[in-house]
Amino acid sequence: MSTRPITVCGAAGGIGQPLSLLLKQSDLITDLALFDIVNAPGVAADLSHINTRSTVTGYGKDEMDAALKDAHTVVIPAGVPRKPGMTRDDLFKINAGIIRDLAEGVARNCPDAFVLVISNPVNSTVPIVSEVLKKYNVYNPKKVFGVSTLDVVRASRFISEVDSNINPKSTRVTVVGGHSGVTIVPLLSQIPGQKFTEEQVKALTHRIQYGGDEVVKAKAGAGSATLSMAYAGARFTNVVLEASVNGKTGIVESTYVNLLADAESTKAFHAKTGLDYFAQDVEFGPEGVAKILPLPAVSDHEQGLLDEAYTELKANIEKGTKFITEPEAVTKPEVATKPEVAPQ
Ligand SMILES: NC(=O)c1ccc[n+]([C@@H]2O[C@H](COP(=O)([O-])OP(=O)(O)OC[C@H]3O[C@@H](n4cnc5c(N)ncnc54)[C@H](O)[C@@H]3O)[C@@H](O)[C@H]2O)c1
Repeated sequence: MSTRPITVCGAAGGIGQPLSLLLKQSDLITDLALFDIVNAPGVAADLSHINTRSTVTGYGKDEMDAALKDAHTVVIPAGVPRKPGMTRDDLFKINAGIIRDLAEGVARNCPDAFVLVISNPVNSTVPIVSEVLKKYNVYNPKKVFGVSTLDVVRASRFISEVDSNINPKSTRVTVVGGHSGVTIVPLLSQIPGQKFTEEQVKALTHRIQYGGDEVVKAKAGAGSATLSMAYAGARFTNVVLEASVNGKTGIVESTYVNLLADAESTKAFHAKTGLDYFAQDVEFGPEGVAKILPLPAVSDHEQGLLDEAYTELKANIEKGTKFITEPEAVTKPEVATKPEVAPQ
């Protein structure tokens, strides 16, 4: 059980509310702190009546520092979601500043907290958090995570729609790379006993990479995935808490991390790709990342996907990093190009 607060930033939002509801059900949490620039006290009062162990406190606009004070874990779904027609750059411009400010709050108030970043674009927002924490000399790469769990959740569900013998709850798919479009690389070849045809693999891969578009389209302007994301966010938060608070060992989940979190195991991969961040299966321990598991032997199709992902990821990482280290280089208005698909 954590005696320190678990803080949700953006707790009154589409993801924040159901995520907070799911976290209220955890016996590992005694103090749930909800921060948002709107409506957090209302959400907190509502959740506080649920008969589970934790107390729930809401913190409004000017109370970020109080919400983050001594937090054990900070989960961040704050920001704006993608709307149809919005480019990745539009999303980046708004969310990057929000994430930077929250990361500064973490550095000031809970420098040793686990930081779980949900806000998109995750490929760039995680480097932003890292660079801010570096500036304050409090960066521990083992404790900063990009939450890519929704890709894993979708992958398990989508494969079970193609093969009804697959139980989506117990079949875990390793999804590596990053968390947007082509950077999402599901390793379907690794599913034990799978017999997908080449055509099915291609269709499933595309659906997992662009699953968020199905939701954005169906919501028709009312936002992106919130409920499935809350489920995925709670699942990932529980992994971190089970390992760090409950002392459970051997839990493996894919997440987007700085490879320095396990520099020894990732040295060869880093030398080959030049990437500083990558989503990969991670084994969790009391301090966060215990081990980044090696990439398995992939199929030729998957290798092609990985090669494509590396190029895109490198640009996303650089953009997030430079937002802190060379802000003038990133905030310049960009020449309009065709709208890109933004992540969700
Ligand atoms: N990682 C993923 O798989 C994934 C999936 C879906 C959505 N997302 C991302 O999650 C984010 C939130 O999505 P949503 O649908 O919940 O959006 P939303 O607009 O419904 O909620 C966002 C909340 O953040 C709050 N907020 C804004 N600025 C803030 C600040 N400075 N401090 C604290 N709170 C602040 C808003 O008031 C709002 O309540 C978006 O960036 C979205 O793209 C990520």
